[in-house]
Amino acid sequence: MSHAETKSVMRAVSRRDFLRSTAIAGAGFVLAPTILGAAEKSADKELNIGFIGVGTEGQILLQNCLKIPGLKFIAVCDIWPYNQGRAVRLLKKYKHEAKGYADYQEMLDTEKTLDAVINATPDWVHAPISIAALKAGKHVYCEKEMSNTLEQAKAMVVAAKETKRLLQIGHQRRSNPRYHAAFDLATKKKCCGNITYVEGQWNRSKRLDVGWPKDSDLDEATLKKYGYDTMAKFRNWRWYKKFAGGPIADLGSHQIDIFNWFLGASPRAVMANGGVDNYEGIEWYDNISAIYEWNVDRGGKTKVVRGFYKVISTSSSGGYAETFLGDEGSMTISENDKQGGMRREQEAPMADWEKELAKAAPKPAEPAKEETKKAEAPKKEADADVEVAAHTGFSPGRYYPAITVPGFNKSEHLPHIENFVAAIRTGSPLSCPAEVGYDTCVTVLRVNEAVEAQKRIEFKPEEFKA
Ligand SMILES: NC(=O)c1ccc[n+]([C@@H]2O[C@H](COP(=O)([O-])OP(=O)(O)OC[C@H]3O[C@@H](n4cnc5c(N)ncnc54)[C@H](O)[C@@H]3O)[C@@H](O)[C@H]2O)c1
Repeated sequence: MSHAETKSVMRAVSRRDFLRSTAIAGAGFVLAPTILGAAEKSADKELNIGFIGVGTEGQILLQNCLKIPGLKFIAVCDIWPYNQGRAVRLLKKYKHEAKGYADYQEMLDTEKTLDAVINATPDWVHAPISIAALKAGKHVYCEKEMSNTLEQAKAMVVAAKETKRLLQIGHQRRSNPRYHAAFDLATKKKCCGNITYVEGQWNRSKRLDVGWPKDSDLDEATLKKYGYDTMAKFRNWRWYKKFAGGPIADLGSHQIDIFNWFLGASPRAVMANGGVDNYEGIEWYDNISAIYEWNVDRGGKTKVVRGFYKVISTSSSGGYAETFLGDEGSMTISENDKQGGMRREQEAPMADWEKELAKAAPKPAEPAKEETKKAEAPKKEADADVEVAAHTGFSPGRYYPAITVPGFNKSEHLPHIENFVAAIRTGSPLSCPAEVGYDTCVTVLRVNEAVEAQKRIEFKPEEFKA
């Protein structure tokens, strides 16, 4: 998607539209009404759903899908009998008789009544599987990263357009009401003033080798048939270039997508550094640091917003979050609903929306006795600001806790699946249609290229067009 298109999508889909169209629709294209016939539209239409790839994420999506009324799960495809069996048994417990398949094409050829499939296979097979499903007339929810190559990601966008089926990409923050509240704060209420810088991180410390249960190995012929040379690579696919786009795609894509969304722009350039510095036997960088540049419109003038993003795999210190900094304040949002919050500069005006927030914000804790004594000690006027900063541990300003949406207590995946289901049933907009997924794919996959080339890479606006 080009800059101008991204901006027009941002304008077209306001928070009001978001709340009105479905409980959780977001910044997407209004594709569905032109795709679906009127006869097909019904808010509670029963839908037949199939799963392809029921590993860690597939099972999470499945558990979430079970919470949505009117879905019938009739087929499960997974090349690994261990996971396939687990999913079929789980569905049986909930009275869904799903037939198991190893081959997705066989499933699509046999299960003619499927309305939609959920594709949670490794990234490198997202394109062939999603395209086959679209061509079989199914709507597709496909996990991120859309693909590990731009050619294949582009083919997915084209297939969705040509088949006139829905293709939702699994950047679930796009359907999260907390992120929509943050978007509203940043863009309409201008809680940061003019956004001048962004930063984000995913600091993770996770066992790299995910392993597999005893006696569940696929035999050599089956592994080979599906493109894997060893069981270890089949299980740890995200660390190999053939199968994945590395941590910048795996984790970074979720968060860098938020920068594009909130800034209403695709980046103009990126430089990056990274390496395999901490682990043996893997191909993808275990840490990456990237500096992006976006051109944004500020009062009719084009200005540059720069931003720093890092992903590391040796420490979870600081967690994962996205921060927007501006001349009047800053805001941090995270999928972890306990993390983040907002800060207004001391001299920034108190807008009406902020007065409301201030009323609802919890009062700061009373200082401990020891600290009270210190605070009461005589001090020079000029030191006052410095002391407030020292006392809070932060720079002076008005602080607000993590962004919450009253009454929202769903898992982070459920709203995104609900958004997909509502789009099929009623024609409401998808939060993350293929075009948005493609934009993100370009934004993150080229970071790996910047690491390899050891130089600043410029994006051309037409690169974001699929
Ligand atoms: N949205 C999120 O927050 C989130 C989180 C984790 C993973 N993911 C994404 O979900 C996808 C799956 O990740 P995972 O962690 O569950 O991986 P996983 O390895 O645990 O699961 C992948 C499953 O796909 C199966 N599979 C592999 N090739 C297949 C094929 N050709 N046909 C059918 N089944 C096949 C495997 O047997 C396995 O059961 C990835 O694209 C990943 O990026 C998204």
